[in-house]
Amino acid sequence: MTPTNALKIPKPVNAEQVDAESLDDVRFIKDANGLDYIEIENRYATAKIALQGGHIMHWQPKHTNAPVLWLSDQSRYETGRSIRGGIPLCWPWFGAHPTDSSLCMHGFARVTPFTVVDVGQMPNGYTRVILQMGHTENAQRQLSYPYTLVLTIEIGATLSIKLATTNRASQPFFMGEAFHTYFNIGDVEKVSISGLEDTEYADKLLEYWRDKQEGAIQFNQEFDRVYVSTNAPVTIHDTVLRRNITINKKGSNTTVVWTPWQKKAHQMADMPRDESWRNMICVETANAMENLVMINPGYTHVLAVEYVVTDV
Ligand code: BG6
Repeated sequence: MTPTNALKIPKPVNAEQVDAESLDDVRFIKDANGLDYIEIENRYATAKIALQGGHIMHWQPKHTNAPVLWLSDQSRYETGRSIRGGIPLCWPWFGAHPTDSSLCMHGFARVTPFTVVDVGQMPNGYTRVILQMGHTENAQRQLSYPYTLVLTIEIGATLSIKLATTNRASQPFFMGEAFHTYFNIGDVEKVSISGLEDTEYADKLLEYWRDKQEGAIQFNQEFDRVYVSTNAPVTIHDTVLRRNITINKKGSNTTVVWTPWQKKAHQMADMPRDESWRNMICVETANAMENLVMINPGYTHVLAVEYVVTDV
């Protein structure tokens, strides 16, 4: 990774302070539990973002006939609880914390409130939303380093996301991260994933046994693999919804592929009780295991992804 100079970050503002009047494409809403959301409908797509966790819950370009992101109908929308589905942000570690197992899986970003820095229309008609993670007591307890975490989302016919971490401490900072994206698919047994052929992976279901991927990935049981040292684009080929989803990435050297299958899905409180776990596959743009990122003081690292849907 080549560090870039620190980003100049505008002062965060609250959702209420954004001039929503001038943004026909954008609505700010609050639910009964007091959680805030941004709903977007522009010429190209619809989308919904929860401010807790900077969590993109929904995105559907108008040219395709089903949402691109899968969202569990058993998801709970509560303070401090991560949403099951959409795009949870794993940060500043991926999986279990390396040294303290009492800390939550996949880091605290996904349950931390973000504030709105800016929302606006781009010259191409896409909507850009910039969010910044707040410094809560819970976050401070788990990471006392000074840092800034800024999430930039560009919503249109494609979805682009950038997660910028700036090290504001005087010593280097090590971290793991992921866009833990749940894709909506026709049937997990009828999709294949290309782009990871010949790539080394650690199989979490076999105590991190290392092997090399042979051919495209297909599924007939639980699957949980961390593909390391790869920056290759990956494509999900969905023969049921008749579309391909291509994942282009930058600043990421790990790709995680996960599906729980029936037994595990039914053990998870916030997964559906029916067979709709078959309609999701997680393909995660990450930095994990030997691909952890080191950021020098004053520098910014950017994890970036772009999702492109092509009907076939
Ligand atoms: C994946 C992991 O990234 O996330 C799996 O590889 C894990 O091992 C899954 O089960 C879901 O994690 P969580 O914390 O959201 O239940």
